[in-house]
Amino acid sequence: MASSLHTLFFFLAIFICSSGYAANVPSNGLVLPVGKDTKTSQYYTTLQMGSNHATVNAVIDLGSQFLWFACDSYASSTYNPIPCGSKKCEIAKGIGCAGCNLPPRPGCTNDTCGASPYNPFENMLYSEGFAEDTLYSKNNVKVSELPFSCFQSEYLIGFASIATGMLGLARTEISLHKQVANKFKLPDKFALCIPSDKGVGKIYIGGGRYTTPKSLVSTPLIINPVSTYPIYTEGDPSDEYFIDVKSIRVNGRPLAIKTSYLTIDEKGVGGTKISTINNFTVLHNSIYKPLTRAFVKAAANMKIKSIAAVAPFRACFSVESISSFVPTIDLVLPGKNVYWRIHGANSLVKVNNNVSCLAFVDGGKEPRTSVVIGGHQLEDDLLEFDLVSSKLSFSSSLLLQNSSCSRV
Ligand SMILES: *[C@@H]1O[C@H](CO)[C@@H](O)[C@H](O)[C@H]1NC(C)=O
Ligand SMILES: *[C@@H]1O[C@H](CO)[C@@H](O)[C@H](O)[C@H]1NC(C)=O
Ligand SMILES: *[C@@H]1O[C@H](CO)[C@@H](O)[C@H](O)[C@H]1NC(C)=O
Ligand SMILES: *[C@@H]1O[C@H](CO)[C@@H](O)[C@H](O)[C@H]1NC(C)=O
Repeated sequence: MASSLHTLFFFLAIFICSSGYAANVPSNGLVLPVGKDTKTSQYYTTLQMGSNHATVNAVIDLGSQFLWFACDSYASSTYNPIPCGSKKCEIAKGIGCAGCNLPPRPGCTNDTCGASPYNPFENMLYSEGFAEDTLYSKNNVKVSELPFSCFQSEYLIGFASIATGMLGLARTEISLHKQVANKFKLPDKFALCIPSDKGVGKIYIGGGRYTTPKSLVSTPLIINPVSTYPIYTEGDPSDEYFIDVKSIRVNGRPLAIKTSYLTIDEKGVGGTKISTINNFTVLHNSIYKPLTRAFVKAAANMKIKSIAAVAPFRACFSVESISSFVPTIDLVLPGKNVYWRIHGANSLVKVNNNVSCLAFVDGGKEPRTSVVIGGHQLEDDLLEFDLVSSKLSFSSSLLLQNSSCSRV
């Protein structure tokens, strides 16, 4: 009797605990909106931080390591600096110890674990401290003790005017998806669907349920052995998302490209990564040239008329000569018949009423990474980053399935 009462109590306790949990963790994980600032082509999300639920519009950067935002007027009773030398500082890979000689406030504390947020628009690295506070989302998920860095808004140079920070989604211990996965015991997965123009896309963190597009194709995420962050410890791999593009085809025909550009060497040079910061895909000059040539030729075969190019593009076409189809570009991936097909809306960009251009730019002869797949090529394409099985799944253009990122 005593033991069965004990068991009953035990089950009740579990029930209470798990239902308490459920209030905080909808089965859908954490869902955040994604907007596009049309002036800068930056994609941003909106979250609430701290006890006063301060709104932060953060530019989404798949290659950045953590959340950081301006906290000039931030006040929160749940804000805490992360002390240097602490376990949390070690997890954050903090560098050094930050101090501040002004009156104490969020972003200005002594003995604080050193953070190095990076501004990719200005190529500037800042020296700040790590703190933690609670994040709230519109779908009522509360993530407590989320590490981030904050500082003065004057450092937000190059950001869309609506933005007050940056949400880094790289493969680090303190990025939001990893924190959500650890805190709520969810798989470390997130899906990103960035809208074109006025749409509202979404980020699903924690393997949430969303309308799965018909055809998701998967490919392994691979590790670049050398960090691509401006500051790192010798031996650190890159925490950005690389995929193994084997070749590139235009209308089904492979381009003549030296495979050494597509592989990553022991210095971490070469290969293909995904970036939400570059607005157009950037290619090594030795890939850009054959791609442009092949696309212009294939377009001519389809009676699409080339016209004078508009910088930074080098292949442009008369809008009125373009019917519904344009040449396809395939990024060929490992496996049998696996490729990422880039269709019309993702391959061309309209620069004015009469001119559309091939939306790829020349990265010169010595870029660190040969192919950086940029925002324009990712719009209205659902991307699922599964860090449990280290793979990327993508839908290709949802527009072809009569859908878009505003509808997933
Ligand atoms: C591309 O990004 C830059 C900032 O990095 C921005 O100034 C520019 O307007 C963008 N181009 C387009 C066509 O959106
Ligand atoms: C940090 O320590 C210095 C030296 O002890 C002190 O002058 C300063 O006010 C402290 N700053 C903060 C923000 O507490
Ligand atoms: C586009 O073409 C029309 C008709 O040919 C012309 O009147 C107009 O000036 C052109 N616009 C631009 C921006 O070139
Ligand atoms: C496309 O989607 C819209 C809105 O969901 C719907 O009204 C329309 O019937 C769909 N068209 C096709 C061809 O499926």
